[in-house]
Amino acid sequence: MLWRLNLLVLTHALARLSHATPRLRQNDQVEAPGFTWGGGPMRGVNIGGCPCQLLTVQPWITPSIFTDKPDWVVDEWTYGAYMRTRNDTYGEISQHWNTWFQYDELENIAAVGLNTIRIQIGYWSIIPLVNGEPYLVGAYDYLKIAVTWARTLNLKVMLDLHGVPGSQNGFDNSGLRGTRQWFSNYTNLQRSLNALQILTEEFTQSSYGNTVQTIELVNEPFPYTDDELNFLKNYYIQGYNTVRGANQQQQIVVALDDGFRGLQSWSGFMTETQYHDVALDTGPADIRFNNYTLAMGYTELLEWFCSQEDYIVAANQKHWTIVGEWTLAAAANTDCAKWLNGRDKGARYDGTLPDQPKIRFTGDCVTHTGSDPSKWSSDYIEFLGRAFETQTYVYEKASGYIMWTWKTEQAADWSMQAGITYGKSGKADSTDYQAGSRYQSLRSLTVGRVNETSQERPQTREMRSEP
Ligand SMILES: *[C@@H]1O[C@H](CO)[C@@H](O)[C@H](O)[C@H]1NC(C)=O
Ligand SMILES: *[C@@H]1O[C@H](CO)[C@@H](O)[C@H](O)[C@H]1NC(C)=O
Ligand SMILES: *[C@@H]1O[C@H](CO)[C@@H](O)[C@H](O)[C@H]1NC(C)=O
Ligand SMILES: *[C@@H]1O[C@H](CO)[C@@H](O)[C@H](O)[C@H]1NC(C)=O
Repeated sequence: MLWRLNLLVLTHALARLSHATPRLRQNDQVEAPGFTWGGGPMRGVNIGGCPCQLLTVQPWITPSIFTDKPDWVVDEWTYGAYMRTRNDTYGEISQHWNTWFQYDELENIAAVGLNTIRIQIGYWSIIPLVNGEPYLVGAYDYLKIAVTWARTLNLKVMLDLHGVPGSQNGFDNSGLRGTRQWFSNYTNLQRSLNALQILTEEFTQSSYGNTVQTIELVNEPFPYTDDELNFLKNYYIQGYNTVRGANQQQQIVVALDDGFRGLQSWSGFMTETQYHDVALDTGPADIRFNNYTLAMGYTELLEWFCSQEDYIVAANQKHWTIVGEWTLAAAANTDCAKWLNGRDKGARYDGTLPDQPKIRFTGDCVTHTGSDPSKWSSDYIEFLGRAFETQTYVYEKASGYIMWTWKTEQAADWSMQAGITYGKSGKADSTDYQAGSRYQSLRSLTVGRVNETSQERPQTREMRSEP
């Protein structure tokens, strides 16, 4: 009861703040088109950098939080460690939680015809900290608010455990850069399961109205060895059982990240009829991290996306399969966004990232990222539009997509919101933004294909018809 009261107070406070946000939508009756697994493609967006992720975990989405900090503040762990030495430990992060994602943003997401948001949350926001873990705690209440808002708009939510104890991948987005200790002991596994249990018990309560349909057990785990892969598989099985045991009023779909192993490695894992409602999440994310794809031209890249169709469609026969973190910027073969490769690190694209194999064609990052798409060439913008169309078309041949990410502070090339605003024209025209004409064109891309794709896809997959 107490948190409900706080929730109300916070909701009102946030609603007031949100009037400053420009609106893409044109009328007051916003409702997302709805989504159910197996009933048509997921069309989603990540709300990366959202309060629930603390977002501080990714310097490139909100560099402003990092610029005035010492060099060693590179992720959410070190951010917490640093802020705990300050007198005003929570001022900045609270401000961020209160302002980065507001109700209007979710309205915009619903208004462009998307049906799902994927929300990132770290374990530190859910279970007690131990052994002096320095994370700042408090995002969980904002997650509850976000889900409540999504419910109002009929947006469905996929919760994504984005950081687990010790780090599952060593990326800054796990909260802790440079180590992968998650795989090293079962205390970490048990704590991750505890977090899943709490999440599931909370969000399957009837008061949330089946808004959270999916829980992804861990984001981008990166097992290097067979032992680590077995650790992950064990976690997936125990995580599934934990979620099933904690379900309240509804059955949650359990999503498994393919762990950089390729979808085919999971085709026989946790299938019907022993397991139910298991989905696979894959990402072409590594595209920006290798010099092979970075060296492709635009046409080659679009062809490469098309070539993925058989691969994801095959996986979709066994488990619902979505492409959970794809982008336009990586599609455009750049890794230019400021600090994308980590705080103070440069880019392969223009040869400023040290100790990397040289790429075949270096380019100019200034004309490929930043907050002002009017500085970009029309070829590049045209390509971003085609990359959007091509990827969504291909991914909808399986169970759909979740783009990364809705908005960024500076890197417009990664922002779906900016893509909608600027469309293919690249005009930095604020009236265009407000009139929503660009979002109308995105809306036709996302919504216009509903009939086409639903006819091509069997209404139920083979595995669904089994008892
Ligand atoms: C915290 O506040 C005290 C008392 O006002 C002050 O002496 C100290 O310098 C402050 N510390 C930091 C890190 O700002
Ligand atoms: C497990 O790993 C964590 C690091 O993630 C470490 O802090 C902890 O001490 C380890 N626990 C055991 C029992 O080894
Ligand atoms: C990628 O790097 C490897 C190793 O340095 C090099 O052999 C290869 O030619 C590079 N490929 C491209 C396309 O740049
Ligand atoms: C789908 O088809 C129906 C019947 O043909 C039509 O009424 C509806 O407008 C179409 N929906 C979309 C989104 O095109």
